[in-house]
Amino acid sequence: MNLLIIGAPGAGKGTMSELILEKYGLIHVSTGDMLREAVRNETEVGLKAQDYMNRGALVPDEIIHDIILERFSRDDMDAGFLFDGYPRTEAQAEDLTLILNETGKKVDQVINLDIADDLLVKRITGRRLCPKCGDISNIYFSPTKVEGICDKCGSEIIQRKDDNLESLTKRLEEYHKNTQPVIEYYEKMGIVRHVDASKSVQEVFADVENILEELCK
Ligand code: AP5
Repeated sequence: MNLLIIGAPGAGKGTMSELILEKYGLIHVSTGDMLREAVRNETEVGLKAQDYMNRGALVPDEIIHDIILERFSRDDMDAGFLFDGYPRTEAQAEDLTLILNETGKKVDQVINLDIADDLLVKRITGRRLCPKCGDISNIYFSPTKVEGICDKCGSEIIQRKDDNLESLTKRLEEYHKNTQPVIEYYEKMGIVRHVDASKSVQEVFADVENILEELCK
């Protein structure tokens, strides 16, 4: 099963990905996570990407092309994948189609997390991340039991540099301009399912699960 999960910043792509992986065990490929790791490690890609990311702008397609090709060069992708936050532009979607054609693979389902922009402010400004195990929490909706400490592994949790109002405004602008056409690209292939992402995490995941169970039949 090869999946894409698409949605505005804070729609819940990472949160749903964690739950999907727990149940279906796919290979999770988040271009956002890959780029943040590259920034942390100060690699060539990281140094090029960091300014775009801090501003909430999209990283250029050529850089994304290179990291995706590198990811496909590893042979674990045959197990089925879940792309989170990729493709983000029509050019990236076309590029992915070419890469998949060459490897005899295809996208089976695109899950689009639908949510109004005004609901995203608290999700983004309240989000906290565990740098060690990747667990996602939120000071408003799902606070950790001990303030500032990850429930899962006990590490100190952090806030992402781009989780502020200014960057969110830019990320939303990029999303509407560049990523909504990606949904239309896959709509033409008839493989998009829309999920109401304004509901609780459990309710959103129940809807996602229904879609995936249908796909597994
Ligand atoms: P990326 O890391 O992909 O960020 P994003 O798309 O802005 O999405 P987020 O990670 O902010 O949100 P999410 O939807 O995963 O929400 P989450 O589940 O954490 O990209 C970052 C940057 O990297 C981009 O701006 C760009 O610069 C660059 N980049 C990455 N990929 C790129 C590409 N392909 N091309 C070009 N540039 C690229 O949830 C958010 C919060 O809400 C959490 O606190 C969570 O606990 C809470 N929450 C989630 N669901 C619910 C719910 N149902 N109810 C209540 N709270 C909820």
